[in-house]
Amino acid sequence: MIYLDHAATTVLKPRCVAEAVAEAMTSLGNSGRGAHGASLGASRLVYETRALLSDFFGADGPEQVAFTANATMALNMAAEGLVEPGDHVITTGMEHNSVLRPLYRKERQGAELTILPADKRGCISLKDLEQAIRPETKAFFCTHASNVTGNVNDLARAGEICRRHGILFVADVSQTGGILPVDMKAMNVDVLCFTGHKGLLGPQGTGGICLRRGIRLRPLLVGGSGIRSYEKEHPDQMPEALEAGTLNVHGIAGLHAAVSCIRQQGREKLFRRELSLMQMFYERVSRLPGVIIYGDFGEEAAVRAPIVSLNLGQEDSAWTAGELSARFGIETRAGAHCAPLMHRALGTEKQGAVRFSFSHMNTEAEVEAAADAVEVLSREAAL
Ligand code: ALA
Repeated sequence: MIYLDHAATTVLKPRCVAEAVAEAMTSLGNSGRGAHGASLGASRLVYETRALLSDFFGADGPEQVAFTANATMALNMAAEGLVEPGDHVITTGMEHNSVLRPLYRKERQGAELTILPADKRGCISLKDLEQAIRPETKAFFCTHASNVTGNVNDLARAGEICRRHGILFVADVSQTGGILPVDMKAMNVDVLCFTGHKGLLGPQGTGGICLRRGIRLRPLLVGGSGIRSYEKEHPDQMPEALEAGTLNVHGIAGLHAAVSCIRQQGREKLFRRELSLMQMFYERVSRLPGVIIYGDFGEEAAVRAPIVSLNLGQEDSAWTAGELSARFGIETRAGAHCAPLMHRALGTEKQGAVRFSFSHMNTEAEVEAAADAVEVLSREAAL
C-alpha cells in the first residue's frame, strides 16, 4: 500500500506512538480518580501532555488545555458553549462539516450566521470578514487550512481583526496542527480546536480544545470530574470544566509520544519535507493533459497543507480513487471530504475530487509511483 490519505488520518506514525499506547494500557490507571501509583502515573502523564500542547500551541498554560475525542467534539463544544440565540456568528466557505453543522444548528436555534464565500480556487478574503462584523457579532470560526485544497488562512491577520473588533476568534487547526506553526498568543486565537490523529501523529480518539484564560464555555457534557463530587453543578474550573468522565489516557500517552517526537525532529523540517513531496507530485501531475487541479498553488500559496486534489476530466472521483487503489495500491480519498461549501465553490459538488495528502514519512519513490499512476489513468480517461 502507498498511503496518501494523511489528511484523513496519519497511518505512518513514529513507532514510539504505538509503543507508548501499549505501555500505558498495562500501567496507567484513571487520571484524577485515585491516590495509588497507577492513577497518579496517569495524572502525571495527562498534566505533562497538557503542558506539552500548551507550549506547542502558545496557549495560556496546561490547565487551559482540555482533552476531547476529536476536533469535531471540540468544535461542537465551542459552538454550543459560546453562541446564544440572537448572536451573530461568522464562518467561511472553506469549513468542514464539523464547523458548519454545529453552526447551522445554532442558526436554527436563533443565531444569525454569515459565511464568507470561497472563490473558484476555494480561497476566502479576510477583507470580507471586516465587512461582515456587526455590533452583535459574537465570534469568527475559521479553519487554518482547507482539508480539500490545503490552502491556508492567515490566522494572525484574522486574529488581529477579531481582537480589534472585540469578537471571539475560534480556530480549527485540524489540518495544520503539527504541520504549520500555530501560536494562540501571536495569532490572537481565543479558542483553538485540534485533533490528535492527523499532523500531530497521535492515535485516533485524541484531540482537544485550548481556551484563552478568562474565556468560559458552557460545557457540553457534565458528570464525573474527580473533584467537588458533592456539588450538583459540574466544576467550572479549567480543565475539569470541559472534561466529564474518564479521559482517553492511553490515547493521550500516544499523543504525548507523538508531539515529543515532532519537537525532537523539528516541525519545520518535517513540514519542509512534506511540502517538497507535495511539490514533486504537483509538478508531475499538473503537466498532464486532462488533469484538473483544485486550489491555489501560486507564489503566495507557498505555505500550504501538503494536499493536492484533482480530477481526471469529468471522471467521477470515486472511480479514479477506486482504480488507484485496486490497480496501483495507492490510497487516497475521493468524494466530498465533508466540506460541501468548498466543493460548491470549486464546482465539484457532483464529481467530488481525488485528494492526495502527504506525510514526511512517504518516500520519493511512492510519490513518483502515484504520479505515474495518475498519468496512466489520465491517458485512459482521455480515450
Ligand atoms: N476530516 C478528515 C478528512 O478531511 C476525515 O478526510
